[in-house]
Amino acid sequence: MTKQRYTVTAALPYANGPLHLGHVAGVYLPADILVRFLRLKGEDVLFVCGSDEHGAAITLRAKKEGISPKEIVDKYNHLIADSFEKFGISFDIFDRTSSPEHHQTAQDFFLELYRKKKFIEKESEQYYDPEFKQFLADRYITGECPKCANPNAYGDQCERCGSDLSPLELKNPLSTLSGKTPELRKTSHWYLPMDQHEAWLKEWIQDGKLDGEQQHDPKEWKNQVIGQCMSWINAGLRPRAMTRDLEWGVPVPLEQADGKVLYVWLDAPIGYISASKKWAEKNGKDWKKYWLKQNDPAETSKLIHFIGKDNIVFHAIIFPILLKDHGDFILPDNVPAYEFLNLEGDKFSTSRNWAVWLNEYLERHPDKIDELKYTLTAIAPETKDSEFTWKEFQARVNNELADILGNFINRVLVLSKKYYQGIVPTPGELSPEDLELQKSLSQFPDRIEKLIRSYKIREAQSEVMNMARLGNKYLADMEPWKLIKTDPERVQTIMYQAIQIAAKLGVSLQVFLPETAKKINAFLLQEDHSWDRLKENDLLKPGHELGQAEILFQKVEDQLVEQERELLEESRKTGQTTREYAAEKNRIQWDDFTKLDMRTGTILSAEKVKGADKLLKLEVDTGLDKRTIVSGIAEHFSPEEIIGKTVAVLLNLEPRKIRGVESQGMILMAENGDGRLSFLSPDSDTETGAEIR
Ligand code: MF3
Ligand code: ZN
Repeated sequence: MTKQRYTVTAALPYANGPLHLGHVAGVYLPADILVRFLRLKGEDVLFVCGSDEHGAAITLRAKKEGISPKEIVDKYNHLIADSFEKFGISFDIFDRTSSPEHHQTAQDFFLELYRKKKFIEKESEQYYDPEFKQFLADRYITGECPKCANPNAYGDQCERCGSDLSPLELKNPLSTLSGKTPELRKTSHWYLPMDQHEAWLKEWIQDGKLDGEQQHDPKEWKNQVIGQCMSWINAGLRPRAMTRDLEWGVPVPLEQADGKVLYVWLDAPIGYISASKKWAEKNGKDWKKYWLKQNDPAETSKLIHFIGKDNIVFHAIIFPILLKDHGDFILPDNVPAYEFLNLEGDKFSTSRNWAVWLNEYLERHPDKIDELKYTLTAIAPETKDSEFTWKEFQARVNNELADILGNFINRVLVLSKKYYQGIVPTPGELSPEDLELQKSLSQFPDRIEKLIRSYKIREAQSEVMNMARLGNKYLADMEPWKLIKTDPERVQTIMYQAIQIAAKLGVSLQVFLPETAKKINAFLLQEDHSWDRLKENDLLKPGHELGQAEILFQKVEDQLVEQERELLEESRKTGQTTREYAAEKNRIQWDDFTKLDMRTGTILSAEKVKGADKLLKLEVDTGLDKRTIVSGIAEHFSPEEIIGKTVAVLLNLEPRKIRGVESQGMILMAENGDGRLSFLSPDSDTETGAEIR
């Protein structure tokens, strides 16, 4: 069989902070598992990643830390690369987008599209912060979302309702640099007319057809990915600017574009290509084989992008348009996007310091790498958000890794030593139980392969554990420790079979728990085997000499769980003290203030708004009347706990329909640094309808 070529990419992490377990579970570990599997199958795989070093994520972080963007990316590029290396994510290369080679590749790519007239140049008015002398795109501007009234929507997206936005749509826009209302100025940019690409995108995403040919099987794509793309396309794609007025980034390679850089979401995915080029140069390979269509379709690589769900539109819509516009490139064969991992009942959050950072984990537990991999794969957020807790980590390690896997390997080696001085015995005739066992074992390799190839790594890993379970059960049923006295010949067959199961675990675990596989194979003195040898029944032949066994997994004590939880709570507190306060807003006049009609009101009833996780519909007594107010507090308070509360209400806000319900006012809330909300309630007995001024 000829080898299939694969180009596997993992989303380039922003070099603006360390990696946390959410990133690992939802992108890098699943990608690494597929890649290790493909390599074991003997396929030709290129696995690339690197750090994403441009965009507002970097410059805003630099501003916060009071150092230059260059210093920020150097610091975190090294930290991230080092964590990946220590954790054993097997990239062929981990590159970075600030490198001169990447700048060149990205500029060439842009120029090719420019020459092919794939962009539309357009002058428009955009927000500008005169104090910081900067145009405000994307995360440089916040304001109220026109769709859901979230007051903290960004210039490119509302994180509450998921709408994609442009700065001009925001109500009450504010610069995130100065905190002031920006002014409008003219500027010109190059736009990607995404609206012109809807037809082929639809066909490609829904049917897997590209230029009339079947490019991939759409049934292999995750429903969420197809669903999200189709909802974007059906809502109508809009032209998107591929350039920005910023200093930090890849300069636009056109004379008339002084002071402009490429849009970070144009430059970053091209980073996959630059990384491939660098890898090819270093290793005497041809990068084009991994990225361009080949004359012989069997030679054409399959491109697979591992990403988090917030990256879907960029990898399944925008980057494919760019690749297709360029002309020679292949398009992704699949875009496996993962949901999010939560941590101990709350979302991972860098700003609130609620995270387990990979580099810190590796420092505290350098001896527990596979334990973490195992747990994260077992809870991988494949089809819905999932949660990491230290308690579960403990349970997975103790009850599964130690009690099932570790126990089995240890038993096999100890008994073999005891009965045969560690020499693999010669089996006799097989009993019906043995045949049954062999039949079950023979089904694992294909089943696991199928699961991995369809991105079901949770199940795939649990099937490997089932092999160990089967081994434990076989030994428990056969009881060689009893038979050794009465029927030693039969024990030879039993132990022979058990040794083969251990050998198969040593092979298959190379995909999921490479360090553990290495240890097992060292105990067994087994050389590395390819995946397909799993189908055979005699990996270790009679007469083969086994090595020494050691304990594979130490149990996780309660103390570790407690310490880790305390650490989290502590860092949550420091997160609060280092919170960044929003800049003061523009001055208003006395008159502006007296226009606000604020009073105390009493919440009479509260209920959830259908189809909106965040909204409560409240009936509020304002003294003057009883009115309906829709409030975005459902994730913070249950209806029952707030009924009867006296709260601050803004009455004379223009009524607005939210999710079909007319809201006649606003409940005033205080938002804490960690995102918690509290009501502004009077501190002593106050009548309903008291005026607030
Ligand atoms: N840095 C982005 C994020 O963390 C991902 C970039 S992926 C790439 O969301 F394709 F653009 F490189
Ligand atoms: Zn919104």
